Amino acid sequence: MPDPTPPTPAGPDPADPRPTGAASGPELPDAATGDNAPDQTTPDPDSPLRTPGAPELPEAAVGEGAVDRVIEGHTYDGIREYDNPMPGWWVALFWAGIVFAPVYMLGVHVFDWIDDYGDDYAEAGRQLEEARALYAATGPSFKTDPGALAEYASDAEMAAAGEADFAAICAACHGQQGEGVIGPNLTDEYWVHGADPEQVWTSIAEGFPTKGMPPMQDQLGEQERAQVMAYVYSLQGTDPPGAKAPEGELVVM
Ligand code: HEC
Repeated sequence: MPDPTPPTPAGPDPADPRPTGAASGPELPDAATGDNAPDQTTPDPDSPLRTPGAPELPEAAVGEGAVDRVIEGHTYDGIREYDNPMPGWWVALFWAGIVFAPVYMLGVHVFDWIDDYGDDYAEAGRQLEEARALYAATGPSFKTDPGALAEYASDAEMAAAGEADFAAICAACHGQQGEGVIGPNLTDEYWVHGADPEQVWTSIAEGFPTKGMPPMQDQLGEQERAQVMAYVYSLQGTDPPGAKAPEGELVVM
């Protein structure tokens, strides 16, 4: 029966470039890891793990004068790991974030310590209401209640102030003197949409888009509309030449 074991090599393989024995290189200790690792706190230039003849390794340094420590027990196959800590500000932010997150979560969702968007919105709404109330109580505001409109209707100063707007905007349809063109005659006592200040105010503000008069509240402010309304009333009974035939109902004022 033939011997199954292969023949033992007689000596070192001449083709193998690796050093053999103590004669050709320093004795290498067993790779030590974990608890058995040698205490290495600084790079050791005399370490037997160094390749003989390798250039001197500079000490790893971060910042001025700082020397990194080797992490103990982290030597694998002669490769040592340095302990390069994260910068202090980074670590501080990291921990601050971890501390802040639960406080914020609880504060917003559970205990309501911290205002969220809804709270801010409601608060802004309250402030707006307060501002409006204050403005209504004290602020200058142009009045358009029925009593005020009735006053404007017979106010000669306001009528004079409205003349320019009438000539510029209204005259195209109602005539330079209100005698009526496309729109009705505004100088007679016949009204299609009512002669009360409230009704005339509404006629001017909202217009009659289906009949050809655009809403004036788009281009004239409240005060300007009141002035032009006063001007319309001042035209009553002026009986200009070429006046358009009466339209609507007779209203005796
Ligand atoms: C583009 C044409 C046009 C312009 C501009 C116009 N109006 Fe008129 N307006 C009309 C027409 C048309 C009517 C009639 C609507 C209807 O018959 O229902 C009318 C009706 C009125 C009425 C109601 C008259 C009534 O008999 O009840 C008043 C008041 C009036 N206009 C005032 C004005 C004033 C003031 C301006 C300018 C600020 C103005 N209008 C600009 C076309 C115009």
